[in-house]
Amino acid sequence: MTNGTILVVGATGKVGRHVVAGLADAGVRVRAMTTRNPADVPVPDGVEVARGDVADPDSLPLDGVGSVFLVWPLMSAKLAPRFLAAVAQHARRIVYLSATGAGDGEVLFHTELERLIEKSDVDWTFLRAGGFAANTLGWAQAIRADGVVRDAYGAAARPLIHEKDIADVAVRALLEDGHTGAKYALTGPEVMTQTKQLRVIGEVIGRPLRWEEISRSAARRRLLDNGWPTAYADVALDYWEEQTREPELVSPLVASLTGHPARTFREWVTDHIADFR
Ligand SMILES: NC(=O)c1ccc[n+]([C@@H]2O[C@H](COP(=O)([O-])OP(=O)(O)OC[C@H]3O[C@@H](n4cnc5c(N)ncnc54)[C@H](OP(=O)(O)O)[C@@H]3O)[C@@H](O)[C@H]2O)c1
Repeated sequence: MTNGTILVVGATGKVGRHVVAGLADAGVRVRAMTTRNPADVPVPDGVEVARGDVADPDSLPLDGVGSVFLVWPLMSAKLAPRFLAAVAQHARRIVYLSATGAGDGEVLFHTELERLIEKSDVDWTFLRAGGFAANTLGWAQAIRADGVVRDAYGAAARPLIHEKDIADVAVRALLEDGHTGAKYALTGPEVMTQTKQLRVIGEVIGRPLRWEEISRSAARRRLLDNGWPTAYADVALDYWEEQTREPELVSPLVASLTGHPARTFREWVTDHIADFR
């Protein structure tokens, strides 16, 4: 069991909001961190909200904190050493939302964050999540507009994960003993190509949707226009291309760690149906 308050960094995000809810359900002390005005952040009863910015260690609400759920919200690890030094003065446990491939150098800042956390004097667990089902929200505008999604690598296949499943594992890792030093690969339960994902969204919302393949260079231009650093855009495109030949594998860990089956992509779409209509 955890001692002290659990600080959730990224508490308003896709995964963090469910971590907050899960911890609140478990009846432990939770502090949700945000860069926004705390009054504007809805949380379950009993959860404290505090302002803090990972880029400014002095701003971190660490008083009484024993454990941290960490989403690193920046695209670089440059500011992480100072952040982690501040955390290590208080917390004994960090559960870090990492990514598939971290540790072998491919996933830029996640690899660096993992190395820094490993070197710190804090017990840690890494949740190496595969692609989020929520990434398909990037198609929502096109789906609502004309039902045609224009993107690259429609044949790229991976087992997308529901954010609630990552949060369920995070809550276990924060509350139970036995997860220290674990690097959990977390995925959804079924490998699906992007074109199949789009078909499932169409079936759930009750409208036929169409995939229109665009070139790698067009997809790259769009990522850069959306603010992606060049190196990240190229790594992502290489990865998607690789998935057309070698799909990401399904991990059984969500089910074995949480005791419930990993949620399917269809369940995820049903939970987010309003976003696509
Ligand atoms: N998408 C994928 O397929 C995938 C796969 C594996 C791993 N991941 C990793 O998952 C992480 C993103 O998780 P998510 O999708 O749950 O997050 P998200 O929905 O993008 O939300 C980002 C969170 O970070 C907070 N935040 C932003 N800037 C901050 C700052 N300077 N200081 C403190 N908090 C700040 C935001 O809080 P406020 O706005 O309230 O301040 C918000 O709660 C990333 O590290 C990503 O690499 C993603």
